[in-house]
Amino acid sequence: MTEPLAEALARRILRQGPITVADFMSAALGDPRFGYYRTRDAIGATGDFVTAPEVSQMFGELIGLWCAESWRQLGQPDPFLLVELGPGRGTLMRDALRAAARVPGFVDAARLHFVESNEALRRQQAALPLPATPTWHDGLHEVPDGPMVAIANEFFDALPIRQFQKSEAGWHERLVGWDEGARRFEWALSPPSDGLGAALSGLSGAPAGSVVEVSAAGVAVARELAFRLQTHGGATLIIDYGYAATPLSDSLQAVRRHRKVSPLTDPGEADLTAHVDFAALAETGRREGVAVFGPVSQATLLRAFGIDARAGQLKRMASADQAAEIDAALARLTGPDAMGHLFKALLYWQGPAGSVPVFPSDQAP
Ligand SMILES: C[S@@+](CC[C@H](N)C(=O)[O-])C[C@H]1O[C@@H](n2cnc3c(N)ncnc32)[C@H](O)[C@@H]1O
Repeated sequence: MTEPLAEALARRILRQGPITVADFMSAALGDPRFGYYRTRDAIGATGDFVTAPEVSQMFGELIGLWCAESWRQLGQPDPFLLVELGPGRGTLMRDALRAAARVPGFVDAARLHFVESNEALRRQQAALPLPATPTWHDGLHEVPDGPMVAIANEFFDALPIRQFQKSEAGWHERLVGWDEGARRFEWALSPPSDGLGAALSGLSGAPAGSVVEVSAAGVAVARELAFRLQTHGGATLIIDYGYAATPLSDSLQAVRRHRKVSPLTDPGEADLTAHVDFAALAETGRREGVAVFGPVSQATLLRAFGIDARAGQLKRMASADQAAEIDAALARLTGPDAMGHLFKALLYWQGPAGSVPVFPSDQAP
């Protein structure tokens, strides 16, 4: 256990009673001293998990070309904000800018802004030889106003969720308690509540045992992204793992050193994530008045962006071993049992009349 964080959470629960899953996640991921996303570089083969840009340069390159083509369709605003939420090791932006630099004027017009809470990752991002100098922010609210092209890959899954569970007696909130005798965290349920029943009335037919997840933090970021686009124009591409329609099951998971562990053990030591509710993100964008496209599967997105051609191009310059690696990366990014279907992409778009949103029209998996 990250003793100080687990101890502090246990003391808090003993003092005030069981806490919400969102409060537990917020502390485990965001505690200023011991939170998972404050202190460590967890990404890559030596960390806890591997993300798409770490699988292959093709991912960042294709996103970079998407940024440049979107900027062109938006009328080449100069300057414009190129924003990344949760840039990780900076790999995606490095590969993206290398590819997009071929589009005349794009890099010169870009003002690069990173929304990043992790100091260790900020240092890695700062060490990269990027053709534009980033400005770092703790949250989107700090990013200046202006036309924007924004990307968020595996950012929303790290934002806290609340969980609600149905029993024969009604809807409860799922909580985290502390068993002082066994000295471990345990699941608990709030008493059934008429208020929850009313808020979740659209799900009155859900069977007992159903779990509904709501990310107020995710919806708040989505709302701000859409509001900015609505006001100043631009495009935002959100890629993450999640579902296209809200399911009735628990998706909270913890991963440590590439293995699943219980979400309640070792807060601050494991990556704690939940599937992203793309239906909620799409609904939020529409409500804010931007055009919303997708979600489509990552396989559909990357195929439409030309990943097969790019793989072929790279293989022509590769040794046999390298060619096999490129094939393996392609399969991992687009394969139905790998990242191809579980990961999805959604676009918010607010462009001038006649602009063409850069996104696959085909909704196939
Ligand atoms: C799963 S990693 C993805 C990294 C990168 N986008 C990639 O694809 O490799 C999540 C990223 O979001 C950042 N992050 C997580 N929660 C955050 C928050 N609440 N505010 C700002 N950054 C956050 C993490 O530090 C990390 O850079």
